[in-house]
Amino acid sequence: APITTPDISTCVPSSIGFDPTNTVRTKACCPPATSKPIKKFEFPNDRATRIRPAAHTVSKEYIAKYKSAIKAMRDLPDDHPHSFVSQAKIHCAYCNGGYTQVASGFPKIELQIHNAWLFFPFHRWYLYFYERILGKLINDPTFALPYWNWDNPAGMTLPDFFEEDGKVNPAFDAYRNCNHRPPATIDLNYAGNDILGLSCGQQISTNMIVMYRQMVTNAGDPLSFFGGKYSAGDDAIANGDPSVGSIEAGCHTAVHRWMGNPRMPNSEDMGNFYSAGYDPVFYVLHTNIDRMWKLWKEMDIKGHTEPREPDWLNASYVFYNENEELVRVYNKDCVRLEKLKYDYEVVPIPWKYSRP
Ligand code: C2O
Repeated sequence: APITTPDISTCVPSSIGFDPTNTVRTKACCPPATSKPIKKFEFPNDRATRIRPAAHTVSKEYIAKYKSAIKAMRDLPDDHPHSFVSQAKIHCAYCNGGYTQVASGFPKIELQIHNAWLFFPFHRWYLYFYERILGKLINDPTFALPYWNWDNPAGMTLPDFFEEDGKVNPAFDAYRNCNHRPPATIDLNYAGNDILGLSCGQQISTNMIVMYRQMVTNAGDPLSFFGGKYSAGDDAIANGDPSVGSIEAGCHTAVHRWMGNPRMPNSEDMGNFYSAGYDPVFYVLHTNIDRMWKLWKEMDIKGHTEPREPDWLNASYVFYNENEELVRVYNKDCVRLEKLKYDYEVVPIPWKYSRP
């Protein structure tokens, strides 16, 4: 049977995957309660498609709009389902033991959306609602999140607008590795240590090869790319297990670790699931991850298709939508971007030619 996220009232404080006695973010990650029942998801009927731009190409006007949306989210009371804190907690609840598989009959088994084939669809839905909430907060139904284009040499540093700007920047987060501020070049192989003596040109070509390997060489079939099967009754798969998808295990984890502050007890914020959602960079890392799914599928290679198993298609999660209603969403409904009414700005993809 598919993994089925239970009713949010079954959520418990998170305690897995970090040191719960030493935290800077809360472990009380459950979403605000509601008496309204869970609704069926309906596809949006927006007139325009939201086009997510590459963060290193955006205009001043776009940056101002993005910041005002994040600020509006930060200004909401924490217990509002659209607040900055509530949105960050979603990740913590789904990744650090907030839910069990009780809805599929396994109340003692943790529900975990990482390290297996729920990784891409869960985060797609998460961003889908996050983006629509931001758009609603600034009254712009065309608002689209940027993506951090770290797979492209032009985008391999953290975009400047996430930095302190002398005012209060809502996109800034204090818990980051300050050695990796712009203009540091990202290391898509990062495993906790900076490689000394590598020029940025060498770092860029290493990154290109990493991308080619994780998008092509090691991603030739659905499960290699998405991650291994994970159905009701399965216990969480450990990170490092060979069945973790190529992108999830590779560049995705590297970017998290590269951003987090290694001096914090749990590498807050980006270096741990429980705290990652508190850094606005989390969402622009993940838009690019989501874009990888699109790019992978568009490659003219046999085998580049979503899993067809019913346990993948019918796995589901529960989110607050932009109208503060709880909705249940299924993997099978997030496969076609045109139905979700968003897409990605097209930029060059130089790693396509980086076959090692
Ligand atoms: Cu849910 Cu980047 O992790």
